[in-house]
Amino acid sequence: MALFQTLQQHAARLRGAKTADLIAADVARAGDFALKVGPLYANFARQGYDRDALAALHALGEAKQLGAAFQRLFDGEIVNVTEGRAALHTALRGNLSQAAAAREAFATASEVRQRMGRLVAELETSGITDIVSVGIGGSDLGPRMVADALRDPLPQKLRVHFISNVDGAAAQRTLAPLDPDKTAAILISKTFGTQETLLNGAILRDWLGDSERIYAVSANPQRAAQSFDIDAERVLPMWDWVGGRYSLWSAVGFPIALAIGFDRFEQLLAGAAEFDAHALNAPLHENLAVRHALTAVWNRNALGHAAHGVMTYDQRLALLPAYLQQLVMESLGKSVKLDGSPVAADTVPVWWGGAGTDVQHSFFQALHQGTQVVPLDFVGIVRNDDPHAENHLALLSNLLAQSEALANGQGSDDPHRSYPGGRPSTMFLLDALTPQSLGALVAMYEHSVYAQSVLWGINAFDQFGVELGKQLANGLLPALRGESEAADAVTRTLLAQIKSRS
Ligand code: F6P
Repeated sequence: MALFQTLQQHAARLRGAKTADLIAADVARAGDFALKVGPLYANFARQGYDRDALAALHALGEAKQLGAAFQRLFDGEIVNVTEGRAALHTALRGNLSQAAAAREAFATASEVRQRMGRLVAELETSGITDIVSVGIGGSDLGPRMVADALRDPLPQKLRVHFISNVDGAAAQRTLAPLDPDKTAAILISKTFGTQETLLNGAILRDWLGDSERIYAVSANPQRAAQSFDIDAERVLPMWDWVGGRYSLWSAVGFPIALAIGFDRFEQLLAGAAEFDAHALNAPLHENLAVRHALTAVWNRNALGHAAHGVMTYDQRLALLPAYLQQLVMESLGKSVKLDGSPVAADTVPVWWGGAGTDVQHSFFQALHQGTQVVPLDFVGIVRNDDPHAENHLALLSNLLAQSEALANGQGSDDPHRSYPGGRPSTMFLLDALTPQSLGALVAMYEHSVYAQSVLWGINAFDQFGVELGKQLANGLLPALRGESEAADAVTRTLLAQIKSRS
């Protein structure tokens, strides 16, 4: 706790400082507060800490033994203590650990990836034109985001579609333009007990007419094969040592490989593995994931900011904020420590975001002049891949301008036209949007999330908070069918409304 208090003392000393003041006091920070790892460049000079506060943050990282914590993660130790599991997503993309559990996981994952590669090759030459991926949460957001980010403007081989929501309109709208004879489905669910995926899977099976063109990915492969009558060779396994929201690198990424090609899927994994090596081996003060995590703790615990935004200045990354919302908020939305005692500091802020420049014309007003300060991550791409060079320059000029305006502000005699400034942001610049750079960026966020969980002493790999609502929903199905009464008085009133108007 003393270390968190030290941070607050630094925050009190620096309160209200604008980037311009911090730069005036330390010109070199513009360049010195940056880190470059492979294709990722990140500049933290517009965060509200100075070198002394940053040293205090590094002392916190050392005191919490972040280096040893990364080693435990990579070695496959039981970091998910409440479920008694390892979290070996790093073994899906590399073999950086000598520990037996990690080596075994790497070997198993590599074998399944080769099987997946063969299924991809078969589907590419099968005459199938469309793939419908059915899954939700970690079994949807990662594949959906990466496939959208890296697909060709005109799909070369297969068009990949995603259905997640239990709302039947999602299935109806996705399937309406497709031909069942030229479509295959992939049902993805770690548990194969998820209501949404079972209901949507049944819609797909009925629509396709049989299970011949249904594939499944699950940590419960028997259940998957039995409940949808799928041949074992079309079921790909995953494992309880991979968390759902950390699973896009496993066979959960099957839709990614179909959308962008198996080779490029492997490049995505290679990009993540390169970043893994950095996260595991770089000293804490040069470690990008650690710096990102310490910055998050600074903004949350020293400055008290309750929200965080991620703004992607690239249309292809428009789904990144939704993906990160699950990764960050499902991992860090906890109030108790590993031992069950209350966590002493506030944990995850509300994460949200969108794609620039659209966001500038919707909610950026509040970011510039609202009463709440919302620290941001900006993500920009240096090299352009589309044929519209002028647009790319405009995109980059907006990216640079927004970060500058938020940080420096601008005074005016007219309070309505005055910009307070002092609004922090981190600037990520990727060389280009490639499978490698996206893999590295996502791995950076995964490791930052883990480092934050260690700093707060919480478990980044369970998600018991989502269970109560699921249980209640199952209990309310009979009430909606008129077969039972709801226990809760407000729910009974709402059910009466639904019945009287349906
Ligand atoms: O409800 C949350 C959750 O358990 C997520 O953690 C998970 O990614 C998602 O549901 C889907 O679960 P499954 O892959 O088991 O269908």
